[in-house]
Order: sequence, then structure tokens, then C-alpha cells
Amino acid sequence: MSDDELSAEAFAQDSRVREARRLLAEAARDHRATLRGVRPPRIELVSGYAATLERFGALRGGALFYPYLGSGFGNGALVELADGSVKFDMICGIGVHYFGHGAPATTEAQLDAALGDTVMQGNLQQNAESAQFVEGLLALANQQGAALEHGFLTTSGAMANENALKLAFHQHRPADRLLAFSGAFAGRTLAMSQVTDNPAYRAGLPTSLAVDYVPFFRPDDAEASTNETLAALRAHLARHPGRHAAMILELVQGEGGYHAGNPAFFEAIAQLLRAHDVAVWFDEIQTFGRTLAPFAFQHFGLDAYADIVTVGKTSQVCATLFAARYRPPPGLVSQTFTGASTAIAVGCHVISRFAAGDLFGEDGRVAQVSRRFIEGFETIRARHGDWVRGPYGLGAMLAFTPFEGERETTRALLDDLFTHGVIAFATGGPLARLRFLPPVGVIRDDEIDAVLDILEKSLARVAARTA
Ligand SMILES: Cc1ncc(COP(=O)(O)O)c(C=O)c1O
Repeated sequence: MSDDELSAEAFAQDSRVREARRLLAEAARDHRATLRGVRPPRIELVSGYAATLERFGALRGGALFYPYLGSGFGNGALVELADGSVKFDMICGIGVHYFGHGAPATTEAQLDAALGDTVMQGNLQQNAESAQFVEGLLALANQQGAALEHGFLTTSGAMANENALKLAFHQHRPADRLLAFSGAFAGRTLAMSQVTDNPAYRAGLPTSLAVDYVPFFRPDDAEASTNETLAALRAHLARHPGRHAAMILELVQGEGGYHAGNPAFFEAIAQLLRAHDVAVWFDEIQTFGRTLAPFAFQHFGLDAYADIVTVGKTSQVCATLFAARYRPPPGLVSQTFTGASTAIAVGCHVISRFAAGDLFGEDGRVAQVSRRFIEGFETIRARHGDWVRGPYGLGAMLAFTPFEGERETTRALLDDLFTHGVIAFATGGPLARLRFLPPVGVIRDDEIDAVLDILEKSLARVAARTA
């Protein structure tokens, strides 16, 4: 080791470390190759698996939605569960594993971090990768002209939103109200449960935040819908003059059912908010990386209005991005953790892949994956008119209404899919629609076709049961 070299660099370059990493990558590749398609559970593992699930359900105070316990191994769109089954993961932890399971590049990035000295990073002690992550994220966010100057890291989408809320209230004090769309979802903290427009998610909780809702976009009559929303917005602004700090906008409603607005609708809202000095806050926690641009506000051409943007899920580390005006005074926002070192390293990788250019645009991978799924849904609809109905979502946020969208039928379909090797999830209303958040960065066309084939067979079984 030379005197001018960091010990960290010398360690990373040590021939033993390099050889160990080469061997690890080689072994991972060989074993990943054994996962080639859907596989049923192994008989001898089934009862132990069920017992662990039951114990875990009791420990956490409620059963899991799915009998899912990962083995910790997977191959791209395929994941191995601890009962030996292999399934297509079309929900990816609700949109987290964009590059699938066991991706070589993310494993590499994780190894870098895993060989480092700490498990977690926090606001008192961070490594250089944290700066790299924030810089990369801001460059991506500003690439079409937005003027976001700062980014603050945290460990969950809800906390990124909490921080956004604080920045907005602090800057617009004494404003004490928030605007949101009907059907919004913003996370599970006490404040976010007030923003989320679902009474079940705030049952028994005290009201801690005043939120005024306006209707989301109705594509069947864009002009009337826009006028209706603007009128509702004006009424709230007039009823509580100067009291609204921000409006939180999900440009494709995630939990609300995968409905998207259009550029004119959003722009009219943003202009009105600007005229009343209300912060425009895009919640991109679910949309990040899934529309035809890295951010949905870029997809809809709303760059000029981005005051605050929150990201999470796919980014691995969550963040609140904000314009200079929203810079907080010391002490207003902070937490022990900004993220696990491995998550920050993988986050940097995700940002660099998003910046590389092959994923976005009309012919990017997001659009290709989207088209192939939608063509598949349309084919099923052409064969069996009442089994699936659109709208089908936007980009790689894909959804359809199965049959009449009744709760029991959707649940039966999700369970049948799970049993036969496809993990999906619901959205909108009480289990009204079925959604996919596929691993865009890795899924192949033949795998999409295999998923659609399993879907059609599951729909047939559920149709036969309910006939
Ligand atoms: C739009 C939106 N905002 C906020 C959140 C909350 O993120 P987290 O679950 O990481 O706290 C979610 C999570 O699904 C989301 O979809």
C-alpha cells in the first residue's frame, strides 16, 4: 500500500478480495441459472414452511397477505421461496426490486457496501456515496429544466413525505392545511394517514392534519373533469385563504387504482397553486422510474412547477428533493438513519442506470414492457370479453379490473396466481383491481408471455368457480 492511498482503496484492490468477489459472482451466476421457470413447492418443506408462516403471523400480530417467505435467492423476474417454489415476481415488494432478484450489478454494489465498516449510515456519519446519490438524483430530476437544489435522505417513503410536509409548512407558515386528490395514498405515519384518502387506514386515529380533497382526473370527459377539479380547488383556497401550505400530487394514483391524469389537467392545477403561493409537491414514491421519463412530472412536462418531490421504493433510499426556497433551518428535519450502506450503494447504481438512457422514452424498455403487457391484456379481453377490463395504468404501473372487480373474485384470482407462480397485488377500492409492478430492468419478453399465459389460465379457473 502506498502512503497516498486510502486503506479502503487498498482493501478493495487487494488481490484476495478481488479473487473472492470474482468467485462469488461466478457461483451466483451458476446457481441463478438453475432457476429457469416456475416451480411448485417441495413436498418435504411444505409443513415446516406453513408452521413458520403461522408463527410469524402470530409474532407480527396479523397474518401476511401472501404465504411468502423468500429463500433469499432469485434470478431476475423469478424468486425462490423458502418452500422451494419459484414464482414470477410481478409486484417486487410493491415496486422496489426494479432490476429483479439477484441482479449481478446490484449484487456487486451491495458487496462494495457489505465490505465497508458500517451497516447503516445516518445524518451524523455518512460516506461519500450519500453525496453521490443526492447529486445523481438531483441531476436526473433537473434534466428537463426543474430547479430542485437539495435532497434529504431517509429510510421510508412515509418519512420522505413527513419531511416534505415539514418543509412546506415551515416555509408557508402560518399555513396549516394541505390539499390532496381524492383517492390519495401517502404512507402510514399518523400525518400521512390523514392525507391518505382511506378511512380504514386511519380508523381510531386522532385527526392531526387538515386536508382538503379535490377530485382526480376522469378520462371519459377531460375538460369537464379539469373544470370540476379547478372549481373545487378554488373553493378550498377561498374558504381558507393563505392556509394551504402545499398540494400533494400523485400523477399516477398508486393505491388509488393506477389512474393517470393528463398534462393539461395537471398544469392547470399547478398554475392555480402557483398563483396562490401553494407549494406543488409531487409524490413520486411509486411512479419513480415507471413512466416514460425517470419522474412522472417529467413525463407530463410539469418541470417548471416542481417545488418538492418525494421518491422511494425503486430508489432504495428515500428522498425529499426541494427548491432552494424550502431549505429548512437546522434541526427541522433529521433522523438517525439515512439508509443501509448496501441500499445507498444500490441506489447509486439505480440512478446511473436511469441516467443511461435505454429505459425511458417511446422506445425505452418501460414502454416496451408496458406495450407487451397491455397487448396481452387486450388479447385476453378479445377472447373472453368480461374477464379483464381497462384502464391498464401507465408505463410499468400496470393494472386491470378482473371480472366485475368484486373483492372476493380479485382475492381469489390473486391467490390462484400465487399458487400457480405469479405474484401480483391489488389496487383501487377494496381489492377492485389487479396490479403488476414488474421488474422492468430485467424482465424478458418471453417471461412476460409466460406470465400472461399463467394469468389467462388463472382467470379461467376463477371464471369456472364463479360461474
Ligand atoms: C404514492 C406513495 N406515497 C407514499 C408511500 C409510502 O411509502 P413507504 O411505504 O415506503 O413508507 C407509498 C407506498 O406505497 C406510495 O405509493
